[in-house]
This record gives sequence, C-alpha cells and structure tokens, in this order.
Amino acid sequence: MSVWIFGYGSLVWRPDFPHVERRAAWIDGWSRRFWQGSTDHRGVPGDPGRVVTLVREEGARCWGSAYRIESGNGEAILDRLAHREKGGYDRITLDIHLAAPGEGAVTGFVYFANPDNPNWLGPAPLPDIARQVRRSHGPSGANTEYVLQLAAALRDMGVEDAHVFALADLVKEDGAP
Ligand code: SIN
Repeated sequence: MSVWIFGYGSLVWRPDFPHVERRAAWIDGWSRRFWQGSTDHRGVPGDPGRVVTLVREEGARCWGSAYRIESGNGEAILDRLAHREKGGYDRITLDIHLAAPGEGAVTGFVYFANPDNPNWLGPAPLPDIARQVRRSHGPSGANTEYVLQLAAALRDMGVEDAHVFALADLVKEDGAP
C-alpha cells in the first residue's frame, strides 16, 4: 500500500526523505500563508522567523508536491518528518489531487500548523512579514532562503501563488540575496 505526503512549504524544495515518486499536486479549500512562526528552523525562540501554513479558504487551491513513500519504511519517514515539523505542525489527512491528466486524487498526509499552536503568528502586513523574514536566521539557515527557494520552486512548476510571489519580491527589493 502506498503512503502519500503533500508538501507545500519547505517540503516542496527540500524533501530530505526517500521517496519513490514525486508529482505536482494540489489541495482544494486551502491557501498557503506565511503565518507560522519558526523558532527551530528559520528563527530562534524570542526571535521567530516566518514559515508557511495552510488557512482554510472557500474556493482556494494550494499547489505543492506529492511524494509517494514506500509503506515498508513509512513509519521511519513519518517519525523523521514529525521531528522536522515539530515546531507547531500537526499531521492531518487530506485528498491530494495529482496534476497529471487522469490520475485523480489520493489520500495522504499534510503538515498543518493550527492557530492554537504556541508558534502561531497569524496575519500581518506583507512589508512587516518581509522585514521579519530578512532579519531572521535559525538552525536551518536564513529565513530569506526559505521564501526565495519556495517561490523559485513554485515558479518552476508554473503555478501561481500571489502571497508567496509578492513576499519574495519584497524580500528581494529589501536587498536580500
Ligand atoms: C510543508 O512543507 O509541507 C510543511 C511546512 C514546512 O515545513 O515548510
């Protein structure tokens, strides 16, 4: 039996776990937003960076990458991802639509930061988010890298995400690499 994981943030551009295949995919009814604080990857406690989570939105579509993993080592991979996503993300199960024609949907896991988690930051004006991103660094590196790599990966896939692209433009205008 296959296990599928849908990534919409760092899991799009840095899937550091073994997978059998990777597909462009989307989930319906959710938008990607830089509303989650990161104190263990792109920021530190007391000075969090900003990373993405999903927010429910009627009619919205969030594009990302679907990964199929071997069910035999599924538990080990899910344990590793639970550690990586431990800064406020819960694992939920959703329908994941595979982009290739005729492939339909699979059921799989998605890491979702709920507003009641301790690292939740919520909405803010985009220029404020850009300033926070520019100054934030954590054990996984610069917060700017997270934003720019995600924007580049989504552009490579040929998909639109106004929130991510506008933030990436602001981060670049601010003189980030
Ligand atoms: C994801 O990429 O799917 C979850 C959020 C993140 O790790 O950036």
